[in-house]
Amino acid sequence: MSFQSHIAAVQAHIEQVLDAWLPQDDPHTTRLCQAMRYSVLNGGKRLRALLVYTTGESLGATRAQLDPAAAAVEIIHAYSLIHDDLPAMDDDDLRRGRPSCHRAFDEGTAILAGDALQAFAFELLATRTAGMPDAGRIQMMITLAAAIGTLGMAGGQAIDLGAVGRQLSRTELELMHRRKTGALITASVELGAQSAGVLAGAEMAALRRYGDELGLAFQIQDDILDVTGDTTTLGKPQGSDALQDKPSYASILGLEAARALALQHRDQAVAAVAPLGSRAGLLRDMAHFVVERAY
Ligand code: IPE
Ligand code: IPE
Ligand code: MG
Ligand code: MG
Ligand code: MG
Repeated sequence: MSFQSHIAAVQAHIEQVLDAWLPQDDPHTTRLCQAMRYSVLNGGKRLRALLVYTTGESLGATRAQLDPAAAAVEIIHAYSLIHDDLPAMDDDDLRRGRPSCHRAFDEGTAILAGDALQAFAFELLATRTAGMPDAGRIQMMITLAAAIGTLGMAGGQAIDLGAVGRQLSRTELELMHRRKTGALITASVELGAQSAGVLAGAEMAALRRYGDELGLAFQIQDDILDVTGDTTTLGKPQGSDALQDKPSYASILGLEAARALALQHRDQAVAAVAPLGSRAGLLRDMAHFVVERAY
């Protein structure tokens, strides 16, 4: 299967899974449920779900075995974007080509939609994996929790907020990116492997390294696109980082050095999965996709 058709097939599949699993309106919380569905079922590249499926399938899992983890990471990601766009954080009015959640609904609803989505992701991991051994299921919940707490996404976002208008060192910048974006990307790879029953060992270590490198390459490219992209293609406001005086790879290193670094991390990601041989074909394609993308 070509990489493009793999992406399209996975995107269509995860859309259907998410649509089926997300809460429908209930009479008392219609607005909240609508905000949750609005923020999850609105496209996006589905990179994190792609990583779950691509990793898990390369290790022999079926698509159905991978659905809970794929849905969980996309739901967590959607929650992180809702909160990231709030006036108290990046104050962005556009997300995936539509008004961001707090603009389409209101700030209170957006905060709650993020809260409920976070809880729902763990509920899915716990309830939709009933056929798996408990050790794997617990490991998956620990992996996801660690990736989005103080040492992961929320911690990275805290560093990001604390850095507004301040110059960060290269080391601080890398730490911020590893946590705010890289941790969930690595977790997506790990969750794919765990769904396939791989909990430790050399392959898991190689995949984890791949995720770490890919995560950095991904956020460096995001920083570059904030400068070089356009709002229509990005589906989010171009220039948001500069407007908010956010430290980014583009602002700290300059575009050319940032680009070189993104490619370096891409190459390190590709090298990390060399031990998987031909099973890593699509993972290698994904590493190229991450730095070549225009949105
Ligand atoms: C955007 O992520 C936020 C970051 C972590 C940089 P994506 O670029 O994966 O956003 P979608 O899901 O495709 O909209
Ligand atoms: C967002 O980073 C990271 C998370 C949502 C955790 P950015 O603030 O750079 O993401 P965009 O550019 O708004 O998508
Ligand atoms: Mg942000
Ligand atoms: Mg943002
Ligand atoms: Mg950005």
